[in-house]
Amino acid sequence: MNTPVPDNIEAARAEAEELHEAINGHNHRYYVLDEPSIPDAEYDRLMQRLLALEQAYPELVSAESPTQRVGAKPISQFAEVRHELPMLSLDNAFSDEDMEKFFGRLADRLELEAGSEGLSISAEPKMDGAAVSITYEEGRLIRAATRGDGTVGEDITHNVRTIQSVPLKLRGTGYPRILEIRGEVFMPKAGFHAFNENAEARGEKTFVNPRNAAAGSLRQLDPKLTAARPLDMYGYAVGHVEGGVLPDSHSEIMEKIREWGFPVNPDARTVAGIENCRQYFVDLGERRDALPYEIDGVVYKVDKLALQIELGQVSRAPRWAIARKYPAQEELTVVEGIDWQVGRTGALTPVARLEPVFVGGVTVSNATLHNIEELQRKDIRAGDTVIVRRAGDVIPEVVSFVPERRPSDSNRTELPTECPVCASPVRKTDDEAVARCTGGPVICRAQRVEALKHFVSRKALDIEGLGSKLIEQLADDLVHKPGDIFRLDAEQLAGLDRMGKKSAENVISSIEKSKSTTLGRFLFGLGIREVGETTAQNLAAHFGGLDPIRNATEQDLLAVEDVGEVVAGRIIGFFADPELSGVVDDLLAAGVEFEANDANQLPVGEVFAGKTVVLTGTLSQMTRSEAGALVKRLGGKVSGSVSAKTSLLVAGDKAGSKLQKAQNLGVAVWSEQDFIDAVGDFLTT
Ligand code: IVH
Repeated sequence: MNTPVPDNIEAARAEAEELHEAINGHNHRYYVLDEPSIPDAEYDRLMQRLLALEQAYPELVSAESPTQRVGAKPISQFAEVRHELPMLSLDNAFSDEDMEKFFGRLADRLELEAGSEGLSISAEPKMDGAAVSITYEEGRLIRAATRGDGTVGEDITHNVRTIQSVPLKLRGTGYPRILEIRGEVFMPKAGFHAFNENAEARGEKTFVNPRNAAAGSLRQLDPKLTAARPLDMYGYAVGHVEGGVLPDSHSEIMEKIREWGFPVNPDARTVAGIENCRQYFVDLGERRDALPYEIDGVVYKVDKLALQIELGQVSRAPRWAIARKYPAQEELTVVEGIDWQVGRTGALTPVARLEPVFVGGVTVSNATLHNIEELQRKDIRAGDTVIVRRAGDVIPEVVSFVPERRPSDSNRTELPTECPVCASPVRKTDDEAVARCTGGPVICRAQRVEALKHFVSRKALDIEGLGSKLIEQLADDLVHKPGDIFRLDAEQLAGLDRMGKKSAENVISSIEKSKSTTLGRFLFGLGIREVGETTAQNLAAHFGGLDPIRNATEQDLLAVEDVGEVVAGRIIGFFADPELSGVVDDLLAAGVEFEANDANQLPVGEVFAGKTVVLTGTLSQMTRSEAGALVKRLGGKVSGSVSAKTSLLVAGDKAGSKLQKAQNLGVAVWSEQDFIDAVGDFLTT
């Protein structure tokens, strides 16, 4: 900013006031409304200009100045704050029955003749963070405090001031002279993950979950540390109020504080009666994993203040509110032992065997520890009490151990020197986090079984009826390499466990059917490291036949979409290995063929030329990956997320947030039928 600072304080003051207004307005649009209207660089310029004015005229610096968020010096200890009104907690409901009882009590106490059906209830996400009280006097933020024991909390004003979404000065007019806003300070999931990744990269302490991250960040003596944490806040109640009137319902009060610039949760709704409350709980539950913040339940509040007063409170919880909890996503349990699983490529994956625990809605008795590096970083040991997390459909994970509960005689977990399955040496190179069994599929039964399972899996040869149990039985005796599958006969199969004559015949006929496959599926099925489904399809489409791929040089391979040096090296290495190349020859000799319906033989069209297509929901007539392959064949690009660049969203059954986003952005939306109509000519059987 090169404009000189005004030479008199009056002009400087006027300009500073304008800048306050502008910067606060942008903060409000950015943090509260989620609708930024200027680029970050422009915002930075406004801030720099204000700093320049304040430097020239220090008397312009006020506590509400946007430059003063991180201005406070570190404190030496937290002062106590006595809450004017106690900060209450909530009763919990864990089931529909608990909710019925709650509504029954409301109807009784309020003597509602017709029951609680018409009762207006505010339903809101139960944020998983830390409760904070913020007091505004004449619209200025004068104090912020933790909940503490509900009566006395700690003064954390210096830290709360650093939270960008919390206004230092309320907007507009009409707010009470003293207004205490209560709410939840939280760390959004994205910020939490980014923070942990950074901390990990620097070898610093990570947070176990966003709640601890929020609470820990607020209890810093130095506000600079808090300022570096991505915290956010939503108000959910008012406390002490003086010199002014507020509306007579909770939802209208929330609307008011939002108008005054304080962020409130946009997912809160006012609903009537128990059934709508239940529906809200179910709907929010379905969105739980997609929400940008952690929640652990729904809070229901009787909306009318007059009724809240009539209902009153018992000890530390109001009678007019309740928290309905979702199943916990984190629980404690004990590690009984650490097993090592050997995968298709020999990778050794440590798996914690757990005392069974109910978490995230299911009973969990195993949790992955990913790889030796991750395991040793977390230092998980047999005998440890650990936090196990399972969110949504994500596989259960061991988050951390509880130091106080570690047995004194526990030993650090070491990488086995020999493969637990075939006793071949285990090797780990420095450039990989994983350790591998060096036995290979011929020596190591685990690798053989996993390679065979992969070969017959749905996205590879797709041999129906040849499941894991059957492969386990076959791998010891009848099937040593993939080609052997095609030499099986029904009699051999019928002799196996749980195999009748009829089912044996069925398996043989699907094996027969799978012989005629596509080059992409075949390549994927070979299990070449780093060659996933998409790369396999890209290779098939690019080369059009197996021989050109086998003979390809690195240069040739690098011309294929998404193939870099590492992948090229894997492919060349695979075919150069006489044993692996022999597996391929053996498959061809066994009659596997793919020329006839090779993806490359499909007619090439232009239906999606230059278009970026997103596929979501469940398709009924093909899988999403098949549809994606078609889009690519027809000139389009497939993307996983909807943005302004998306040309088209194909929405199958139960499409969720992507559909919503596409509609918000005005992106064209097709049904599955629209898609099939458009690509009809290119569909092959
Ligand atoms: S209302 C009198 N609303 O849940 C009612 N609390 O035990 C006071 N919480 O520590 C709380 N989201 O920090 C309310 N939308 C919400 C909430 C919420 C999270 C927390 C709150 C308190 C705990 C209640």
